[in-house]
Amino acid sequence: MKMDIKHVVDGKQDYIPMLLIADQQVDMIEKYLDRGELYALYDPDLRAACVLTDEGEGVFELQNIAVLPEYQRRGYGRKLVKHLVDSSKGRAKVLMVGTGDSPMTLPFYQQCGFVFSHRIKNYMTDHYYQPVLEDGVQLFDKVYLKMDL
Ligand SMILES: CC(C)(COP(=O)(O)OP(=O)(O)OC[C@H]1O[C@@H](n2cnc3c(N)ncnc32)[C@H](O)[C@@H]1OP(=O)(O)O)[C@@H](O)C(=O)NCCC(=O)NCCS
Repeated sequence: MKMDIKHVVDGKQDYIPMLLIADQQVDMIEKYLDRGELYALYDPDLRAACVLTDEGEGVFELQNIAVLPEYQRRGYGRKLVKHLVDSSKGRAKVLMVGTGDSPMTLPFYQQCGFVFSHRIKNYMTDHYYQPVLEDGVQLFDKVYLKMDL
């Protein structure tokens, strides 16, 4: 069966375990999952998912993108971003993404065509109950990147 990216409308909650790979706090996920568009990549089983929100004034935001650990670095993340970009064109002018200040994710977004926008100091420590760690290193700031559509 060919790879397929589905726009999931019903049962979005079922994807929370997948989305927890990229965002450790369920109440943060619920905030954007409810109002966002959920896309899930199957090849042939579920491999990756992401959430896109409309922030108004021509701005869409990629809130969460997660690839199952054993399937990372196989191009699924890049394919999902390309799908989001294609589906956002004509509906928004700019696609934003916010991420922890991390050497694992910033190169990925830059590879996908995003460029640095701005930084929010101490976002992670201000919004998460537990320290957000990546490879044992605590993340403090949130870095926003953007792409013109
Ligand atoms: C970040 C993530 C979404 C990337 O998806 P992916 O399918 O693994 O990435 P791709 O295979 O499409 O990578 C595309 C390019 O991005 C870059 N890249 C991806 N992951 C990277 C990493 N960990 N370190 C450095 N560069 C990376 C590479 O240039 C890669 O191309 P290459 O493999 O040919 O070198 C995925 O690894 C993931 O789910 N990580 C955990 C959750 C997370 O941190 N999500 C983002 C936070 S919101």
